[in-house]
Amino acid sequence: MEKFPIKKFKELVKNIQYHNNLYYNNDSPEISDADYDILINEYNKIKKLFPEETKQSDILEKIGGSASELFSKFNHPTRMLSLDNAMSEDDLNNFQKKISNFLNKKSIDFEFTSEPKIDGLSVNLIYKNGKLATAATRGDGQVGENITENVITIKDVPKLLRTKYPPVSIEIRGEIFITKNDFMKLNTDNKFANPRNAAAGSLRQLDSKVTAKRPLKFIAHGFGSFTEEKSSYYDQLIEFKSWGIPISPFLKKAKNLKDLIKIYDEVNKKRAEIPYDIDGLVYKVNNLSFQNRLGIVGKSPRWAIAHKFASETAQTEIKKIDIQIGRTGSVTPVARLKSINIGGVLVSNATLHNFEEIEKKDIREGDSVIVERAGDVIPHILEVVSKNKKNRPNLFKPPKSCPICKSPIVIDPDEVVVRCSGTYVCDAQKIGRLKHFVSRSALDIEGLGDKQINLFYNKGLIEDYADIFDLEAKRDVIVNIEGWGTLSFNNLINAIDQKKKIELSKFIYSLGVRFVGQINAKLIASAFLNIKSFISFFEGKSDILSALENTDGLGPKVIQSFIEYSSIKSNKKQILKLTQRVDLFIKKIDTVKSKITGKKIIFTGTLSSMSRAEAKTKAEKLGAKVVSSISKSTDILVTGENSGSKLKKAKELGVRVMNEKEWSNLAN
Ligand code: IVH
Repeated sequence: MEKFPIKKFKELVKNIQYHNNLYYNNDSPEISDADYDILINEYNKIKKLFPEETKQSDILEKIGGSASELFSKFNHPTRMLSLDNAMSEDDLNNFQKKISNFLNKKSIDFEFTSEPKIDGLSVNLIYKNGKLATAATRGDGQVGENITENVITIKDVPKLLRTKYPPVSIEIRGEIFITKNDFMKLNTDNKFANPRNAAAGSLRQLDSKVTAKRPLKFIAHGFGSFTEEKSSYYDQLIEFKSWGIPISPFLKKAKNLKDLIKIYDEVNKKRAEIPYDIDGLVYKVNNLSFQNRLGIVGKSPRWAIAHKFASETAQTEIKKIDIQIGRTGSVTPVARLKSINIGGVLVSNATLHNFEEIEKKDIREGDSVIVERAGDVIPHILEVVSKNKKNRPNLFKPPKSCPICKSPIVIDPDEVVVRCSGTYVCDAQKIGRLKHFVSRSALDIEGLGDKQINLFYNKGLIEDYADIFDLEAKRDVIVNIEGWGTLSFNNLINAIDQKKKIELSKFIYSLGVRFVGQINAKLIASAFLNIKSFISFFEGKSDILSALENTDGLGPKVIQSFIEYSSIKSNKKQILKLTQRVDLFIKKIDTVKSKITGKKIIFTGTLSSMSRAEAKTKAEKLGAKVVSSISKSTDILVTGENSGSKLKKAKELGVRVMNEKEWSNLAN
């Protein structure tokens, strides 16, 4: 019997979680759907072989991402589902067989519907008595983010349903997306990898005025059940249309699989002409009482399936293999290709992910390769089709020193990533950090993206963050650069001006400190009492270490990285220079006065009725400060299951101890 590959399994889980987070929470996937599916298949294979050893792991039960902490949470009245995929006609036959078996129907005499699977973001719109009450993202299917303010700005989404007799309450589900054309117009600064990311980024704005300016579209493709529903999905959608809700112009009924496949071939042929990205068709059993009987398996309905299109590929030759240094020094190999048109897009570079990948696929300069461009990620190489036999070069290995700054290249044992060690001297890392600083999850300066940062850095117009705010003084130079003029320059200066007021946690995140993502940046910011104390820390006049160590949720790796960053002289100088140009502020959370206002609280052990994050948010709303290490000054310790040493210490110190129930009573 095979041994349980524990290390491999753990790595897989970590890897999948990493990519889930990039895809669902950061809107910035690094691998294609196909590569993601390989990871999932491997995961499922191990789970099947070793059910006992892996029963704790249920990463796939959670659909999509988790609700981020930037928006308030919303519990979907009925769960938002996912879809199983069909890649072949066999898969479709299976789908149909399962349905007819389940319904105990020998002959298949029921209808299906077909509509495109739009590559966007799913939302849940809740209408109460015909009025849009709430809009939420899917999140993990149960809990999403409340994005009502932003969705209200989308013209396609009716605020009032056009009907005299609207249902008392209805959940309408659909896709929010950006058309390919609008994407080209919007993405002149290359901030987004693709239309889907652009839609996601636009929707998750904290300022709905920004969302209002983005060309977001909406098409409905489902609903949570409601009392007055029609007898078929198709008729229900047609009724929605009469209420002013956009539905797909490609919605069709079909009598059987053969008809569905005919529709599939037709749509596949004109895929490039459809104004938005689609990655397949979705087939649904039309009869709603059949849908009800068929129900859900795992995370997907038994009555629906996504028939995926093959991703677009083409063959070309690798001219050269190069490396790219990221903002954290990560060394990524890239293939420079003989330019090739893939599905209407000219491709001349492909990522090789890492050095193991090059070895595994035995990819070398001069080889002919198949390149895949999935709508959602950077093009990558699927396989080598014919090897460069003449003078086949050696396998491409990581260089010993960085080609940009000549610092040694080191292998990071924690992450199997190869890194340039010249963190603060390497131009590539500096440029990477500048790009991150203006990127959409950071300061999000419109019109200032990768292309412009490269240009300004290479021309010596910017060197560090503060220089961005001094660009006005470079007017004479910039307006004379090809492609620039007074108008575009003024627009840029305007866009920069608009981003001068920066919330402290966003500012900290924008600095691109290793391990400091959005959530850790928030935690770090919360350790500073005010902006003055933040500045005085960088002036070397005060200390923050113990406050960081006492911040609930901040780990030692993150703290060490932040402290190390702030101990470097050039960083200090850079930040102080920057704080003279921007206006930092701390967003106060709306608190209500309560019995625990001003108190220091610690949560320990596993809570059963809520997540740690939820308990913390609640405590903060009630004006309490959540800390992590127990001392005499702690006011309350809330204990969940398996509370260990903290409970003992609290008793010794005479700190008030509460169980979860008592805490709930107090908080509510
Ligand atoms: S049906 C039945 N129909 O695909 C429950 N989903 O992979 C699932 N999607 O979260 C929804 N176009 O965001 C359905 N015509 C369509 C769709 C569609 C895109 C998305 C949707 C869902 C995801 C599942």
